[in-house]
This record gives sequence, structure tokens and C-alpha cells, in this order.
Amino acid sequence: MSTQFSSSLTAAFRSHVCGALRAEDVGKKVTLSGWVQNWRDHGGVIFIDLRDRYGLTQVVFNPENAPAAHELAHTLRSEFVIQVDGEVVNRPEGTVNANMATGEIEVLVAQFKVLNRAETPPFSIDETSEVGENVRLQYRYLDLRRQPLQEAMVVRHRVTKIVRDYLDNHNFLEIETPVLTKSTPEGARDYLVPSRTNLGSFFALPQSPQLFKQLLMVAGFDRYFQIVKCFRDEDLRADRQPEFTQIDMELAFVDQNDIITLVEGMIALIFKKIKDFDSAPPYPRIGYYDAINKYGLDAPDIRFDMHLVDLNSVFTETNFKVFRSVLDRKGIIKGLNLKGGAKLSRREIDELLEVVKIYGAKGLAWIKVNEDGWQSPIVKFFEESEVTALGQAMAAEVGDLLLFVADKPEITNESLGRLRLHLGEKMGLIDADKLAFCWVVDFPMFAWDEQEKRHTAIHHPFTAPLDEDLEKLESDPLAVKAKAYDLVLNGVEVGGGSIRIHDAETQAKVFSLLNISDDEAQEKFGFLLDALSFGAPPHGGIAFGLDRLMMLLLQRQSIREVIAFPKTQKATCLLSGAPNTVSPRQLRDLAIKKA
Ligand code: AMO
Ligand code: AMP
Repeated sequence: MSTQFSSSLTAAFRSHVCGALRAEDVGKKVTLSGWVQNWRDHGGVIFIDLRDRYGLTQVVFNPENAPAAHELAHTLRSEFVIQVDGEVVNRPEGTVNANMATGEIEVLVAQFKVLNRAETPPFSIDETSEVGENVRLQYRYLDLRRQPLQEAMVVRHRVTKIVRDYLDNHNFLEIETPVLTKSTPEGARDYLVPSRTNLGSFFALPQSPQLFKQLLMVAGFDRYFQIVKCFRDEDLRADRQPEFTQIDMELAFVDQNDIITLVEGMIALIFKKIKDFDSAPPYPRIGYYDAINKYGLDAPDIRFDMHLVDLNSVFTETNFKVFRSVLDRKGIIKGLNLKGGAKLSRREIDELLEVVKIYGAKGLAWIKVNEDGWQSPIVKFFEESEVTALGQAMAAEVGDLLLFVADKPEITNESLGRLRLHLGEKMGLIDADKLAFCWVVDFPMFAWDEQEKRHTAIHHPFTAPLDEDLEKLESDPLAVKAKAYDLVLNGVEVGGGSIRIHDAETQAKVFSLLNISDDEAQEKFGFLLDALSFGAPPHGGIAFGLDRLMMLLLQRQSIREVIAFPKTQKATCLLSGAPNTVSPRQLRDLAIKKA
């Protein structure tokens, strides 16, 4: 963390901050204010590490030097806030701390004041102390005093500054869009806010500024951005919060390549400036179907190989009933070759089965390629020719563990894709220091929702189809690809965007494919459709998840580690107690419930 904020930060309470003093300051009379990090009594001399956000300085209370201050120093406890006056001195020989920026000096205290006392904190303000997350969230202001969150907040500030400067240099304007608004179709549930002045009506908090940023294009602000809170009432995970921050942008008169190139410049700059990492754009682009075929997932982690292998052709004639029945129902069979995995025990293989089951797979077939042949519960059902073809397809070698799932395509791909990630972690196949970016492009426009018996938009309903697929819109909608792109880093989707439809005719076709009637379209997005009819320029955009980017930049396990005041997995705030019940009067005012 930067300690360069120097003595220029002078004010009533301090001449220097706690990270500033160096050997060249020896002899100066200084005033420091901060928190008592820890307290040590060494042979009658009291040592305290005084802390603020800039660092630590050792301050010394010597009974010979300042008897009154030394006496009073006995009453100090961790996290008391104090102000000390003293002189900067060299640390005695042998006590220099090379791991501390201020480790060559200490401040010999002449006098000090207690500015405030502190209760004993529920955990020690020390990055090494292990603390349960709920306690950390309840006392977040104390957790925020600790180094990891201090670092996260500083870096977060620096990242948004880099973003603002970069986009400003590229002619972007930061424009705010409403928070009390109408539902935006990003696929999650809305957070609703009841209107008091229009009883029975509700605002929705924006899932993203999607509609408004398109309106800004119609308005002629050809390059917009906003660092903006978005709200989605969805099931939470390590990389999802109910309110999160997007770096959101939209551009007019651009194509997909323009946008990708421009934002690659921004992302590369962030990683260069913060981590001194050269991410070397252009990043590889992977077609959606290639990603699914090879990695099983649309956000591939390309830090390691071990691709999924399609085995349908090996088993076309199979008599093994599990595989036969899957193939007969248009399912697929795919495999993974875990190099050196033959040493896994039965129990470990059973654990792998539990992983694929989470994603709906009904079984996990396996083969150990041993010196003396294949060991497996299923090989006995295979023909000799199948064994040969399988060995070839999987590039099987002695020591390998071959793993197979047969199921519907979505289940086979997802479960093996997740198993691949699990094995990557478990078997140490992933270099944790690697940062591997890729774009996933050419997403399909639509998916088929079997339950609702209708098409749904994979990105959102304003995304434009590829020009060459336009004619298939009505004849074969599921074959239509979109001008949509996601940026993936280490298997995490950090951003996504698309070129939008800017003509009313195509937009109407897409709505009808999505089973959105004219009336419904008018009711939900009429204002956007109207705007498109008043000279909308060709336009497109993208939004990055700032929290996810921060998580990956700082190599944290969850986005909660890079957000000052995050919510729990159950979307509650343990610090403030939100959400909470409100008074009968408030409910009455909103006509929600009579008291
Ligand atoms: P999308 O829905 O893909 O696109 O969101 C963009 C990025 O936001 C991040 N993100 C989240 N981060 C934390 N918690 C969440 N619950 C969460 N949901 C999404 C992801 C994601 O890539 N309007 C479009 C963008 C566009 O088309 O321009 C949109 O919102 O990193
Ligand atoms: P069973 O006939 O159900 O005992 O299965 C025989 C073997 O095939 C076991 O090792 C199962 O784990 C495996 N298996 C069962 N169903 C599937 C499936 N859908 N995909 C892959 N392997 C499976």
C-alpha cells in the first residue's frame, strides 16, 4: 500500500501520517495521531505500534525520558486513539525492522493525549487473526481497519480513477441514469420500491442502466460511461451480490471490433498499472460453441488444458445400456482425461461423482489406465473396437484416469466443465498467479425454455443478430448467432455486452420470437421503441463487473472481500440489520398493509 502521502498532510492533529517517517527525518519533532495497534512492555520501556491507513510507526515511552507519559501509557489498550508528540530517533542497532517502511526509526514520546478510548474489539485488528465472516460483517468498520480491506479500498479507488481517466481520454462522458425506474430486462428478479404518491405502483431498481444508455445514444452522446450500482434479486454466490457495481458503457457508430479493442486497452491499462502485468491484448476470441465443446462452460478457464472430448462417434453402436439409452434420447457422451489420475482411490473417485451430481449428472463412469490394462466397472460392456477407438479419442496413456458423463447435452457439458475446474484446483493444474483473458463471441441469440415453451434472449432482447444470420431469424431462430461478447478472466465472466438492434423492424421480429406481444413490448419498453424511431444511430456497449474485476486483480476468494459493506449470501446486511420491518404507519402510507 502506498505510504507516499507525506508530511504535506499536516493538520491540527498531526505533522506526519504513520507511514511517512524515514531515517532522514531523525531529529525532527513530530506529532502523530492514530490507533494503538499493539502494546509491549520491554524492561520498563513501553513500545506501541501506532497505526493509521498509511502505515505503522513504533512509538516509545521511556520512563527516563518522559516519566509522566510513561506512567500514563500503562492505561493504553488496543484501538485507543491517541496523539503523540515526540522526536524521531534511530532505532538502536539490532532492532531495525526491514519489513516495515518506517522500520529504521521510532518516535520517542515527550507527551501524548488519549483522543478516545475503545472497547476491546471482538477480534484483533491484525491481518493474521482468523475471524468468522459473520463477525467481520457485523463489525465491518473494524474489519475495514485491517490490511486486506484497506488495500482493497485503495486499489478499488485507483482502478476507478484509471477507468475514468482512460474513458475521459477517449471522449466518454460520465452521465448518471435513474435509480428509481422501470424494470430492465437482464434476467434477474427486480427489487421493487412502492410509490407513495402513486399508490399501487412500483419503481424497480435498475438491474443495469441498459435502456437509459441506449436512450443516451439516441440523444447524441456518442460515448457514455458510468460507474454505477445495479440491483438484482437473484441467488447469491461468491461472485454475485444483490447490489454490485458496473463499469457501464455505450458507444454509437461502432462495431463489435471497435468496442473490443477499446475496452481491451482499458483492461490492459488497469492490470499494468495495478499489478505491472502485461496482459498483451488482443485477447484470444473463442466462439461460444467452441467454448462449450472444449470447456463445457461459456466462461472457460483457459489457464489449463484438459479439454472435454466428444465420444458420440465412438459409441454409436454401443450395447452398454447407460450410453445406449442416452444416445437414443439425443444425449451426448463426453470424457475428460486426468493425466496421472489413475492413482486416485475409489473414495476420491466417489467424491468426483458428487461434484457432477450437483450439476444434474446421474453418474460418472471411469477407467483407470494401469500398466496391466484398464480397470473399470464399465469396460466389460464395451466391444474390442470401442475400447480401441476410445483409447485413441482420449489419447489414453498408462497412469491416466478417464472420466465420462452421458446425459442431455447441457448436463453433460456443464457437469464435466465443472468437474474440469474442480480437478484443476484439486490436482494443482492451475497456476494461481496466471491471468488468462479471453473473449467469448458469437453467442446464440436465443435459448429454448422447455418449461415456458418459448424462446428466451441469451443476452437481452435488444442484442443484434449477426448480419449473415438475419434471414434465419424466423426459419431457424436457435441457429441465429448474436453480436454479443463476454470478457472472461480465469473462468469468471467479468464483462458482457453486445451491438444493439437499432431498427424497429428487426426489434419487432425479435420481440415476437420472444413471445413478447406488441402490447407488452409497448408497455414494458415503449419509451425505448419510440426513441429508436427518432433516428437512433447504430450503437452497442458493454458492462464490466467492477467487483469481479477487483476480486481477480487482488486474488480474493469472493467479491465480498473487495466491497466495503457487502451483504451476506442471504442478501442481508449484518452491520445495519437491513432489511428490516418498518412501522405500521409507513406501511399505511404506502397502502401496503393496514395497521
Ligand atoms: P450483464 O448482465 O452481463 O450485462 O452484466 C455485466 C457484468 O456485471 C457483472 N455482474 C455481477 N457482478 C456481481 N454481482 C452480480 N449479481 C452480477 N451480475 C452481473 C458481471 C457481468 O459480466 N446491460 C448489460 C451490459 C451490456 O449489454 O452493455 C448487462 O448488464 O461481471
Ligand atoms: P449402473 O449400470 O447404473 O450401475 O452404472 C454403471 C456405471 O456407469 C457406473 O460406474 C455409473 O457411475 C456409470 N454411469 C451411470 N449413469 C451414467 C451417466 N449418465 N453418465 C456416465 N456414467 C454413468
